[in-house]
Amino acid sequence: MKLKLVSAAIALALGVGISGMALSQEKPESLVKQRQAKMTLQWKYLKPLYLMSRDRMPYDAKTVAQNVSYLAVLDEMAWDGFDPSTKDLKTHALPAIWSEPAKFKAAQEHLEKAVAQLVKVSKGGNEAAVKSAIGDVNDACNACHKDFREKE
Ligand code: HEC
Repeated sequence: MKLKLVSAAIALALGVGISGMALSQEKPESLVKQRQAKMTLQWKYLKPLYLMSRDRMPYDAKTVAQNVSYLAVLDEMAWDGFDPSTKDLKTHALPAIWSEPAKFKAAQEHLEKAVAQLVKVSKGGNEAAVKSAIGDVNDACNACHKDFREKE
C-alpha cells in the first residue's frame, strides 16, 4: 500500500515535470506556426468587419459583436510566439522585432488600444462610429506590418 502511494507520487512528480518542461521548451518552429495561425485568425475575424466598414458587405451588428469579442481575445494571445528562440528561423518577421523591441511593443499596444476602443464603441450601436473604429484597428495591423513584417 505504502509502496503504491510512493510510486504514484513519483509518477505524479514525473508527469508534472514533463508537462512543465514541454511548456518552457516549446519548439521555435511550433511557436512560429502558432503565431502565424493567430495572425491568420485575426484577419479571418477582422476581414468581414473591414468589408462592412468600406460598405463592401452589408452591415450586420450581430457579426460585429461576435467578431469583436474574438478579436479582443486573439490580440491578447498574438505576441507570445515572438520569442527570441525563433530569431534565426526563416519567417516573414523582420529583424527589427529583435533590434527595436520597444517599438515592436508599442505597435502591439497600438493594436490593443484600437481593439479596446472598437469593443467599447460596438456596444454603443452607432454604426458610423463602429465603422470608423474598425478602420482604426485595420490601420494598427498595417502599421506594424509596415515596420516589422517582410513584404510578400
Ligand atoms: C505588433 C506587430 C503586428 C500587429 C499589430 C499585427 N501583426 Fe500581423 N504579423 C506581424 C508579423 C511580424 C508577421 C509575420 C510573422 C511570421 O512570419 O512569423 C505577421 C503576419 C500576419 C499574417 C500572415 C500570417 C502567416 O500565415 O504567415 C496575417 C494574415 C496577419 N499578420 C494579420 C494581422 C491582422 C489582421 C492584424 C490586426 C488585427 C495584425 N496582423 C496585427 C506583426 C503584427
